[in-house]
Amino acid sequence: MGNLLRRYWHPVAAIAELEDRPIKPIRLLGEELVLFRSGDARFGLVDRHCPHRRADLLNGIIENSGIRCSYHGWCFAPSGQCLEQPFEDIANPTARFRDKIRIKSYGVEAKAGMLWAYLGPEPAPLVPNWEPFTWGNGFKQVVFADVPCNWFQCQENSCDPVHFEWMHRNWSSRLSGDGSYGPRHLELQFEEFEFGHIYRRVREDTDKSNPHWTVGATTLWPNAFFLGDHIEWRVPVDDENTLSVTWMFHRVPAEREPYVQQRIPWWKGPIKDEHGNWITSHVLNQDIVAWVGQGRIADRTREHLGRSDAGVHMLRRCFEANMRLVEEGKEPKGLIRDPERNICVELPIKHREMFTQSMSLQQSRTLGRSLSYRLNEPEYQHQWGQPEAIKREYQIAMGMISDDALKTI
Ligand code: FES
Ligand SMILES: [Fe+2]
Repeated sequence: MGNLLRRYWHPVAAIAELEDRPIKPIRLLGEELVLFRSGDARFGLVDRHCPHRRADLLNGIIENSGIRCSYHGWCFAPSGQCLEQPFEDIANPTARFRDKIRIKSYGVEAKAGMLWAYLGPEPAPLVPNWEPFTWGNGFKQVVFADVPCNWFQCQENSCDPVHFEWMHRNWSSRLSGDGSYGPRHLELQFEEFEFGHIYRRVREDTDKSNPHWTVGATTLWPNAFFLGDHIEWRVPVDDENTLSVTWMFHRVPAEREPYVQQRIPWWKGPIKDEHGNWITSHVLNQDIVAWVGQGRIADRTREHLGRSDAGVHMLRRCFEANMRLVEEGKEPKGLIRDPERNICVELPIKHREMFTQSMSLQQSRTLGRSLSYRLNEPEYQHQWGQPEAIKREYQIAMGMISDDALKTI
């Protein structure tokens, strides 16, 4: 599975995060690495330990040309090439020992406010330019959470429509003291497409003319979930840990256009409260409770799958088939290598007009509610813990703070 996952780019940080602090420890696919932003604004992803005597590069010194180990001063370019060894360069300059030294390094690319890592064989495919990344006039934010379980049980949840009814609708109503039940699911359909899988559903309150059936929801191959206004990745840290990464888009109202976001903000939300209890108030937090509750690595030998799990079964089969392809030296599913193809990778989207058309705040609120997109609420709806400063930034972008009030800020 690790070999398969190494064929894909994984979001591991926000660009703004590295502007705030230029060195970040990264654990990805079981490897200990550091991500850094050099003084001349290039990004590097290298071994966490210096190849001289293994000091921790998290304590490195940022230079224009790369990162310098703070133990004896060896300096490395983002490519991994050793550029300087201060004492060796004085004591034995003709030996050019530095030319023989490289630190392990991997590819990094910036896209959509995030930094993406590629740990696989060359040539690397392109970082997919998913359609929402091409939208303008949006307030975007990148949200993280550390999830203490294997990534695959998180991803199985991306092809599991019945959990919406219970985990998000019925459990939420129990947690809030309201005893109501949401509409039951009556019919499900699952299918594969070039970049993942789609599930369609009919509930008691919808029929096959509803976008829940005509458009469906998209599991993005290999480890993401796409829901129109956002994409969630389940990034494999190691066998027992996952980094949850959400990229969220909110179209600003017509009154705020043209809107160009100078910096895409980021934050990391906790998964437990100050008493050590699970946070269960928001959709993604509820999902995390389910994923972690299955154990560090869910024991599939003790499951009893039913019809509701047809999507889970389909995903598992697809991963098995793609692992075999990689073993046979073949290209796995969904890699994009053609730059033309990658100009904009269109995805199935319910009510695309919510994101691509100009609307007043009032119009989009009304439409959003009727379409069950939670748009233009005063704070982040999907995960608990949005910092006040980002909430304020969002409210200003969305025209929720009057011009008069803005003058006093
Ligand atoms: S351990 Fe890094 S320079 Fe010596
Ligand atoms: Fe969910």
